[in-house]
Formats: sequence, C-alpha cells, structure tokens
Amino acid sequence: MKHNRRTIMKGAGAIAIATAAASNFSFAQANDGFDKIPRIRLTNLPTACNKMDNMTKALSGPDLYIKRDDVMELAHGGNKTRKLEYGLAEALNMGAKAVVTQGGLQSNHVRQTVSGAAKIGLEVHVILSNPVPEMKDQLMGSGNYLMDQLMGAHIHLAGEEGRGPVVEKVLADLTAEGKKPYNIPAGASNAIGSMGYVNAGRELITQWNDMGISPSHIFTATGSCGTAAGLLMGLRYFGNTTTKVVSISVSSPADRLEARIRALLNDASDMLGVDQSFVKDDDIHVNDAYYGKAYGYPTEAGIAALRMTAEKEGVLLDPVYTSKAMSGVIDMVKNNTLENAKDVVFLHTGGAPAIHPYAEYFKV
Ligand SMILES: Cc1ncc(COP(=O)(O)O)c(C=O)c1O
Repeated sequence: MKHNRRTIMKGAGAIAIATAAASNFSFAQANDGFDKIPRIRLTNLPTACNKMDNMTKALSGPDLYIKRDDVMELAHGGNKTRKLEYGLAEALNMGAKAVVTQGGLQSNHVRQTVSGAAKIGLEVHVILSNPVPEMKDQLMGSGNYLMDQLMGAHIHLAGEEGRGPVVEKVLADLTAEGKKPYNIPAGASNAIGSMGYVNAGRELITQWNDMGISPSHIFTATGSCGTAAGLLMGLRYFGNTTTKVVSISVSSPADRLEARIRALLNDASDMLGVDQSFVKDDDIHVNDAYYGKAYGYPTEAGIAALRMTAEKEGVLLDPVYTSKAMSGVIDMVKNNTLENAKDVVFLHTGGAPAIHPYAEYFKV
C-alpha cells in the first residue's frame, strides 16, 4: 500500500501527517497541546468501564470496576493498541516501509504491533526471545506466536545473545534495502508510546465523571512501564489529582520499575511541554509482592485470581500480567490494606491469547 504524505498548517506550526490511500484509518487532529501529537485511529474508543458486581460482593470491600482495554480491534486488543496509535503514526510520518519490534515468544505487544502494521500496510519484523525455556514447545505452538505467524510477521528468533544484536542486524538489513525501518521498543514503552495512556487518562476522567464515580485507586499490571507512566501523566495532565495509579509488577523489584516510570514521565513531560517535576516522585506507586518467580511464570495466587474473575464476571485475564495484578487487588481488598479505598478500578490490559500456551496451568 502507498502512503501519501501531506502537511497540514495549524496555528503557528505545521504538522506533517500521513494518510493511507484506500485504507480505513485516519489521523486524529486537534488544535493544540496534546492533540497536536499525530495519532492514527486503530480502534474504537472509549473502551467500557464496568462495575464488577459479583467480585465486589464476593470480596465485601469497596466497589470494584474494570476498564476493558482488553477489548480492542487489533487482533484481540490490549494496552499496546493505544500506544501504537501514536508510534505507528510516527512511523508513517517518517516514511517507514517496515516496522521492527521485539518481545517474548508470547508477547501481546508484538501481536498487536503485527496486527497494526498489517492494517496500515507496513512490513513487520519481530525479534522474539524465550523467557521460559522449559515451555518452548507450548510457547511456539499457539496463542500470540501463532497469531503473529497468521498475520504475516517476519519472525527472527533470538538465542543466548539476547534480542539486542538481532534487532540491530534486522534494522541494518532493512535500512540497506531502503525500507526506512521504524523501531518500536519492547512494550512500546517510550515517550511516544506512553501518549496512548495519556489519552486513556483523559478518557477515564470523562468516563468516571459520566458514571458519577471518583475512584481512589486504579491498578495496572506493569512490565515495561509505559502504561503506568502514561496513565499517571494523563490523569494529572487533564486534571485528576486524586486517583492513585498503582502498578503491580509482573517481573522486577519495585525500585527498578519506579526508576523506569520516572524516566518515562520525564520524557513524556518534555513531549507535552510541562516541567519534569509536574508529576512528583511520591505519586509513583509500585507493588512488587505479586510477581512470584520471574516474568512469564504464573503464580498460584494469579491462577486463582484468573479463575475467580472468569467465574464471577465472565472476564478472562491472562496468566502473565493481569492475573498477577488481580491477585494483588484481591489480596489488598481482602486484607483491607488499601488506604481510603472507594471505587477501585482494575485496568484490564489484555493478554488472554496467552491462556492457550499456558493451558496446563488450568487443567482441573
Ligand atoms: C496484558 C499486558 N498487561 C500489562 C502489560 C504491561 O504494560 P507495560 O509494558 O506498559 O508496563 C503488558 C505488556 O506487554 C501486557 O501485555
């Protein structure tokens, strides 16, 4: 597919945007500030935010809500779709013919990137590593990996050398072929990607207002940190000063994630033109009590949380991210350790395709 490039004059500045001939996506354009950042529409928004009546009743705590970012249009959706609305816009603006990204064999981010690239007609190369060596056959037999194959991804497997050198080689080869590859980091967690969750912050403020709730907490599963950083920035930037964004780590000790969230907040501040101290350090909350052995290894409490959410609400979490986060919410609500909890929101960031390779954990 060919992408026409044009330039739109808005106010004092000129914004280069790209349009795809004969395609069904469009750039969102608005007048100033945040909305000047080019974005393509990859899904219908807003996503739903629903009360979880049965979970609320079962846990006898504050009212629990779920924000359904797992229901989006890029091949089962998930949190990366929002980030890609910004990252892929930048790729088109730079004239890229190919997109490169990376992740684990069952990466939800990779699956959504492959879907988004297919939708806008870009070649896509993905560099995958195996975080759980003993599960190689399962991880390469179904779920996200199978979907990447179905959607035409060029898959490059990384071995002991790690993904970095393979990414460099793929980028060099594509550059030599004149394809101007656009590189998206793992999890799309850079400043441009985090704008997707700045946008989600604005969406939530309007949605909660319409629902007549003022949540004390919103919980999210956190890995590469762009979701948490963007969401925190978005809520504060658009005027919510009270809802605590709590990151449940799926992979690393809290201090590492706090530093990463801080760095992303700083980059996002620069992009939005606010002072880096706009979001304060004491507004960053990470809990690392629920990730268990390591990334990609389900926990017993996570599996129980996944089952409970499935049975009580008919909602499917995933074994690697959201089940661990929900196990944290359940634990804190049960033990009454959430301060001043009133209207607690769980951000469902997706990932259910990975239930299939992890099926053995769910055998009864
Ligand atoms: C289902 C799911 N939840 C949460 C996350 C974590 O988001 P982030 O990497 O922005 O911290 C991911 C990242 O891959 C994910 O796939």
